[in-house]
Amino acid sequence: MKALVVEDLQVHYGPIRAVAGVSFQVPDSSLVALLGANGAGKSTIIRAVAGLRPPTAGRIVLHGEEIQGLPPHEIVRRGVAVCPEGRRIFRNLTVEENLLLGGWTRSRRDQEETLAHICRLFPRLAERRRQRAGTLSGGEQQMLALGRALMSRPRLLLLDEPSLGLAPLLVREVFKVVARLKETGVSILLVEQNAAAALELADYAYILENGRLTLEGTGTDLLTNDHLRRAYLGETPTEKPLPPAGGAM
Ligand SMILES: Nc1ncnc2c1ncn2[C@@H]1O[C@H](COP(=O)(O)OP(=O)(O)OP(=O)(O)O)[C@@H](O)[C@H]1O
Ligand SMILES: [Mg+2]
Repeated sequence: MKALVVEDLQVHYGPIRAVAGVSFQVPDSSLVALLGANGAGKSTIIRAVAGLRPPTAGRIVLHGEEIQGLPPHEIVRRGVAVCPEGRRIFRNLTVEENLLLGGWTRSRRDQEETLAHICRLFPRLAERRRQRAGTLSGGEQQMLALGRALMSRPRLLLLDEPSLGLAPLLVREVFKVVARLKETGVSILLVEQNAAAALELADYAYILENGRLTLEGTGTDLLTNDHLRRAYLGETPTEKPLPPAGGAM
C-alpha cells in the first residue's frame, strides 16, 4: 500500500507555475526525500499535499483516497502532519501548550498519552515543558516543531527542511530523531537542502529542478551519482581526497 501517490501535480501562484507536472510516491513506512535548490518548488509540493495550496491540476492520493482540494483540517484528520519550513511555533505559549495544539484532532486522553511518548522521545522538551517556546534554542525549537507534528499521531509526516539554520551538531541530532521516527513505522516525506544527510536516511529520493523531477533513485544510488554529487553535494571532479603526504600508501 502507498501512503502517498502524487500524479502529475501542478501548482501555480497566479501566473507562475511553481510545480509543473510532478509524480512521485511514498510507500507505507518508508522515508522518501525530495531534494532540490532554492525555489525548485519543494515547499510548494508539501503545501499542496497538506491542502495549504490547492493544486491547479493533478491527483494527490492518500492511502488510496484522493485528497486534492480538501481543506487542510480535513487532511490533518486523515493522518497527515506537517512540520513547516521555519518551524512556526507559537513563541508566547509554553512548550507543552504548543505540543497540545498539535493534537487538536484527538481526545484529551489520547493527547496525554502521546505527550508522554513525545517527552520520552525528546527528553529536552520534557525538561522545558513550562518554558515559553520563544526562549528555546534553535535546535530545541526544531524538536518542538517535530514533536508538535507528531502529536496528531500522523500516518504521513511531511518535513520541510528540519535541519535549516542549525549548527552541524544539532543537524545530526535532528536527523537522529528523524531516523527514530522512521523506525516507528510512520511514512515520511523529507524535504532537505542537506542532500548528503537526507540521502543517507532515505529509502528513495527524487531531485526537483524548476518544478520538475529530473532524477530519482534509492538513497545509495543517488549518493554515488556523479551529476548529483557535483550539483548538490558541493563536489567538483578535482576535489577527490588527496593521498596522504609522504607517499606512504
Ligand atoms: N506565495 C507565493 N507567491 C508567489 N510565488 C511564490 C509563492 N511561494 C512560492 N513562490 C514561488 O514558487 C517557486 C517555488 O517556491 P518554493 O517555496 O516551493 O521553493 P523551495 O523549493 O521550497 O525553495 P527553498 O529551498 O528556498 O525553500 C519559487 O519560484 C517561489 O518564488
Ligand atoms: Mg522551501
